[in-house]
Order: sequence, then C-alpha cells, then structure tokens
Amino acid sequence: MNIFNNHKRLYITAGLLFAFLTYLTVIMPAFKNQYNNLPLPGTKPLSGDAKAGKLLYIAEGCVGCHSQQVRNVEMDKVFGSRPGMAADYANIGRTSIWQNTATLMGTERTGPDLTDVGNRQPSIDWNLMHLYQPRSVVPQSIMPSYKWLFEMKINPTKNDVVVSMPSQFLNGETGKLVATKEALQLVAYIQSLKQTPLPQGIIANDFLYKKAIKIELGKDGSASLDGKALYEANCVACHQANGEGLKGAFPPLKGSQIVTDGNLELYVDIIMNGYDARAEYGVMAAVGTNMNFTEKEVTAIINYERSSWGNKGKKVTEEEIKKVMDFVKIKASASNQ
Ligand code: HEC
Ligand code: HEC
Repeated sequence: MNIFNNHKRLYITAGLLFAFLTYLTVIMPAFKNQYNNLPLPGTKPLSGDAKAGKLLYIAEGCVGCHSQQVRNVEMDKVFGSRPGMAADYANIGRTSIWQNTATLMGTERTGPDLTDVGNRQPSIDWNLMHLYQPRSVVPQSIMPSYKWLFEMKINPTKNDVVVSMPSQFLNGETGKLVATKEALQLVAYIQSLKQTPLPQGIIANDFLYKKAIKIELGKDGSASLDGKALYEANCVACHQANGEGLKGAFPPLKGSQIVTDGNLELYVDIIMNGYDARAEYGVMAAVGTNMNFTEKEVTAIINYERSSWGNKGKKVTEEEIKKVMDFVKIKASASNQ
C-alpha cells in the first residue's frame, strides 16, 4: 500500500491517529471531569497568609503524617461531618508554573486527618503551643516539635504574638516565647481547613460500616450519650484527661466552681460560645457551636464533668439543658447584632 512506502504519509497518519485517541481518552474526560466537579458554592479561597502557610505545610513535610481526606467509612466520622467528595478539591489550582496541584490528600495517618481541623481545633493559642511543643498539650504525642518557627524575646513589642507556654517546656530559656510570621501563617492555613457545608437540600453520602453507638442507661432506664467519649473528642486537648488543665494556658475543670455548683447558664454559655474572661488563660473557642452540639450532647458532657476527677456536682437533665440552651442562643444572637 502507498502509505507504507511513503514515510511522510505514514508519520502524519500515525500522528493524527495518536492525537485523536489522546483527545478521546485523556483530554476530553479530563475536561468533562472538571466541569462535573465545580467547587461547592460556599468554598472560600485561601487568604494570603493561609496560602503562604500551605507552602510551609508542604516544606515542613506535614503531609508525611497527616491526610486530608475523609473516607466514607465509619471510622473516619471523627474527622468530618460528611465523607469527602471530588468537589472539595476542585478549587485547588497549581502551586506555581513549576509545581503541580497540591491537594495534600496524603497517604499516611500517623496523626489525625486534618480536613476539618479548623472546626475541630479553632484556637490559635492551642495551635501555637502544639506546634512549639506538641507534648505540652498532648502528653503522649509523637508529633515533632517545630521550635524553629518561634523565637525567644526578652522584651516583646506590642505587635509580637506571645505564646503563653508553661515554663517547664521552655528548656530553661529566658524571655517570652514569640511566634514568627511563619508560625502564624502555618496556623492560618490549619485554621482554614474546614469542610464546606453542602448546599441546602443536598444530602451527603452516608458513612459505611456503622458501629453500634455506646449508650449508657440511667437508673430510670433512660438512654443517654457517652459523656466521657464526648469529653475526649472535644475538650481533652485543652482541659486534659485528668481535668487539671495546664497552668498558664487552660484552667482546671477539676474542682472548678463553674463546673460543680456555678450557674448553669454560664456553664452552657461557655461550652456553646467559648470563654475569654481572664488574662492568665488563653481563649476558649465556641466549641459547642462549631460542633453543632445538641442538648443531649451538652447534658452528657456536663454530667461527665460533674462526676469525674472527684467533682461532685448535681446531675442535670436534658430538659433543664434545653431550656438553658434556648436562652443562651437568644442571648448570643442578640449580642452579635
Ligand atoms: C511524625 C508525624 C507527624 C508530623 C511530621 C506532623 N504531625 Fe501533626 N500530629 C501527629 C500526631 C501523632 C498527632 C496527634 C497527637 C497530637 O495532637 O499531638 C498530631 C496532631 C496534629 C494536630 C491536631 C489535630 C487534631 O485533630 O487535634 C495538628 C493541627 C497538627 N498535628 C498539625 C501538624 C502540622 C502543621 C505539621 C507540620 C508542621 C505536623 N502536624 C507534622 C503527627 C505528626
Ligand atoms: C482550645 C482549647 C479549649 C477547648 C478545646 C475547650 N476549652 Fe474550655 N476553656 C479553655 C480556656 C482557655 C478557658 C479559660 C478562658 C478564660 O478564663 O479566659 C476555658 C474555660 C472553661 C470553663 C470554665 C472553667 C473555670 O472554672 O473557669 C469550662 C467549664 C470549660 N472551659 C469547659 C469546656 C468544655 C466542656 C469543653 C469541651 C466541650 C471545653 N471547655 C473545650 C480552653 C478550651
């Protein structure tokens, strides 16, 4: 045949066939995929600081221990309110002309998944302490400390962000611990990691392989949630497992007046809307509101804290807490206006 005797024709035909097949099997599906998976409507772009923080996250190798993907299996439920989907990553572009798109989904989970860590752990103070010395807030942590993102200053200026670090973690160094610009950028990135809520009316895929929920039965046979598990998931990072908190950063709940016999309204308000009453401690974020606590959950946590570490507070009922929560909600929305 003529085509096999004419090298020009042969190459042009093969080239065209190659281009056509590449278009059909590679380029067209990629385009289609992109338009099928637009970012969710509420997706927020990264701020300038968070963008710089993302580069530091890559440079420091955090992805070696942390994933950013909530799989649709029950054991991943603690890492987000719904399983991840393609649209969650659709907003991420190339890092630079020379660098590929860094979705940072990760393959290793030596530490927890960080997809929704901005909601789970919104405190700047906690994140800075944890970066400087993870074992100051999580005694059994195996995460490396990132001390080079901080410096010691004898006389910090007004613009310096001073980290209230208990002195036993400062290795005898003198002065105040100050976060560098890099540490603040990295924390800005970590705090930007939040799952975008689905638009109204769209229901997320379910988590598969559900486990039975542990339920405690009260004396009267009524079912309540496991307060200890809720405390461990939401409060232990700061107030610690022994309820003693951390001197100079987080107050003890063991023996706390507010916990045992203070007014219930303040207690519930602190859990739902956070607390910043004293200079000697950091700021508590609005843990309950961020996690969408129900009255069942708040009741279980309060009853756990009132009966642990030697605390002997009166147990509360769901009805009592519901009333207080309604009141606290009205108060919070009034003060936001
Ligand atoms: C050697 C593995 C390792 C590396 C590297 C590592 N981490 Fe961790 N990380 C952990 C472990 C283990 C935990 C759980 C214990 C703890 O909270 O300290 C953790 C916890 C965290 C948490 C708290 C998560 C939560 O759910 O409360 C954050 C935030 C975090 N790491 C951020 C980072 C950042 C940012 C980097 C990079 C600068 C990093 N990690 C590098 C192992 C690692
Ligand atoms: C990110 C760290 C952090 C987390 C997580 C956290 N707290 Fe706090 N909490 C604080 C800080 C800091 C204060 C003190 C604020 C102040 O006094 O300025 C505080 C104060 C309190 C107080 C007042 C105690 C007293 O005697 O003054 C209660 C009660 C409390 N928290 C309960 C909880 C509960 C319940 C949870 C979990 C649902 C929780 N906290 C999660 C940081 C945290």
